[in-house]
Amino acid sequence: MSDNHIKMGKTTPMQFIMAVLGGLFAPLVAIILIVGLVMKVQASHIPDTAKQAESVEAAVDARIKPVGTLVVADANAVHVELTGEQVFNAVCTACHTPGALGAPKFGNKGDWGPRIKQGYATLISHAENGIRQMPARGGNPDLSDLEIERAVAYMADAGGAKFTPPAAPAAAAPAAAAPAAAPAAAAK
Ligand code: HEC
Repeated sequence: MSDNHIKMGKTTPMQFIMAVLGGLFAPLVAIILIVGLVMKVQASHIPDTAKQAESVEAAVDARIKPVGTLVVADANAVHVELTGEQVFNAVCTACHTPGALGAPKFGNKGDWGPRIKQGYATLISHAENGIRQMPARGGNPDLSDLEIERAVAYMADAGGAKFTPPAAPAAAAPAAAAPAAAPAAAAK
């Protein structure tokens, strides 16, 4: 015990200072190294984070893309005109196949004969505006005039008429020529 005490007492101030400095310096070096390491790791992650953000953005873009590229049908967009048969099968058949509400039956010449005598234009007008139990445009206001004209011709022709519906939808350019041709076709 006393020996130890004597040894401790022999520690010079210089040794003490060195010990204290060493004791402080070693952790300091360690701290500096750790901080340096962390900084390095962080620095190496900066581009990664940017890349990650990019890929996240790309993923989000990919997810919202279907919505973004949706082609929303515009009311003013070109309306695809159905054929008379398509209109009939979509709308008119509901009444005109069974003869519901007293509708002239499809393909029945007895039903259609007197109606055909009224003429194509009158039938078109009745189909477009409705007559008695026959709803305007068969109850589908989205049908264009051309579609009604085609459907009337389709039904009337099946009932013995020989109506020729106006050919192609009057596009912007040939519109001038179409009206001249249409009456000639209808007059037949
Ligand atoms: C809700 C049932 C119903 C639908 C759907 C319907 N019709 Fe009719 N349609 C009738 C009835 C009923 C009559 C007979 C009306 C009368 O003369 O009293 C008729 C008559 C007609 C006539 C003869 C009109 C006349 O002056 O003699 C035409 C042409 C006609 N329909 C066309 C169509 C076309 C084209 C469609 C489809 C776009 C259609 N109809 C859809 C019920 C319908």
